[in-house]
Amino acid sequence: MPDLDLLVLGSGVAGLSAAVRAAAEGLQVGLLTKGDLAQSATRWAQGGVAAVLGGDEDSTDLHLADTLRAGAGLCDEDAVRVLVDEGPQRVDELIALGAVFDRDHEGRLLKAREGGHSMPRIVHAGGAATGAEIERALVEAVRATAAIVQEQSLALDLLVAEGRCQGVAARDPDGGVIDLRAAHTLLATGGAGQLFAVTTNPPEATGDGVAMALRAGVGVADVEFMQFHPTALHHAAMPRPLLSEALRGHGALVRDTNGERFVDEMQPRDVVSRAMTARMLEQGVDHLWLDATGLDNFNARFPTIAASVRAIGLDPARDWLPIAPAAHYLSGGVLTDLDGASTMPGLWAAGEVACTGVHGANRLASNSLLEGMVFAPRVVEAILAGRDGPIASGAMRAVVDPDPRSESSSAIPARHLNFSTAAGAVEKMGEGGAGEARALLQRAMTVGAGVLRSAHSLEQTAKELDAVPAYDPEVRNLLTVARALLASALERAESRGSHTRSDFLETRDDLRVRMVLGSGGSGSAR
Ligand code: SIN
Repeated sequence: MPDLDLLVLGSGVAGLSAAVRAAAEGLQVGLLTKGDLAQSATRWAQGGVAAVLGGDEDSTDLHLADTLRAGAGLCDEDAVRVLVDEGPQRVDELIALGAVFDRDHEGRLLKAREGGHSMPRIVHAGGAATGAEIERALVEAVRATAAIVQEQSLALDLLVAEGRCQGVAARDPDGGVIDLRAAHTLLATGGAGQLFAVTTNPPEATGDGVAMALRAGVGVADVEFMQFHPTALHHAAMPRPLLSEALRGHGALVRDTNGERFVDEMQPRDVVSRAMTARMLEQGVDHLWLDATGLDNFNARFPTIAASVRAIGLDPARDWLPIAPAAHYLSGGVLTDLDGASTMPGLWAAGEVACTGVHGANRLASNSLLEGMVFAPRVVEAILAGRDGPIASGAMRAVVDPDPRSESSSAIPARHLNFSTAAGAVEKMGEGGAGEARALLQRAMTVGAGVLRSAHSLEQTAKELDAVPAYDPEVRNLLTVARALLASALERAESRGSHTRSDFLETRDDLRVRMVLGSGGSGSAR
């Protein structure tokens, strides 16, 4: 690749949206992805995109209020305001680009309701195959631009000189290591569900962006907030097939092993996952049940889900479906301002890898595709406007002093943690060993750092990770992020959102802070 204006890492909704926008503006863009272009967590997303598209009694204020409530005190209100206000236009643009959303007979967009939403506002595609349709439309759009796409290439580490990101070192498809140089680098590398043995995330979700940021000393925040989706199909398949929130929105019920209901199914997913985990422990079982037998038109409305349950011999019209919580979404990540700038000049982040402040302690259903669509184009706009480095806006105000004249809503302060990424040089390469190392790590994290954690379980997990070899670059990244998650979860001696400490069940006002790791690479950062 030649030297670039913008190097995008990752090909989910955020990376593709940025590449399309930047190429349309005439920037020299390169997109690096470790799999095929269409291979990302985005294509697994089911439910849809939450956006207030008008024509009913819904409002962006209600969407904002629902998002803040789910986020349990840690959302940045300005970031959420950007999300809900700019979201509808981004959905319209996606439709103009060719994404086909589900509509009624009169051509109106169909809207579903999901957990934590006070209104039906989720637009969806192919029933519950929304991510796949968005990915398809964006991949076609990227292919039609002059952006240079390099597939099967893994970013290994950021190139940093004089406090500025200059691109990445990457492993090319032949196994060689190359330097890719760019004026600006965008992390759009997605999440880290592979930290856990049971996850809805594909094998690529190994926290690469967060790990590279941590190794370069870039500010990372709130990674203790791994969200567990309550209704993953309990079955050997991995990633776990999701039984979308939309099923509960349509009236599906969660039942325990005695067939009793025990939780309001329309609560945000942290509440439902916690209640389910407690009930499973009480009843000594490894799964519960989703009763969708009362839903009309299951097959027509949810064809993808119908296919995955039929594949294991179940008929949703007759059978209750086995469910258990599964690691689903990392709400924290690389700390950014409202334009996606990280603490290091030249480095930006958007989508699941980022901590914009939108999700707080627990992401609201169907706000994730939306976040990628909204914040990635903002990165491009900021670059075009000549921005270089973070400003005091959004979640970034935790570490960059706000302008005292600003009237924006109050910032959430940082608690800085000492965190070393010294350990973790790659020891060996090789397929079998890497699989074993990943499985060891996942088992330790699942036992000690899952839906319920305590100081004891977190400390024990940290010890077990010491025995996991950093067998290849992805395992090394998982180890880095796992240690960051454990450190943050230990320091957060309270329960809030998707972080539940069985030894500290209350939420503490003095812990309404962002847990920040990494000193930050910017002169303006504290
Ligand atoms: C779902 O359909 O339940 C998943 C959507 C999301 O993660 O927001």
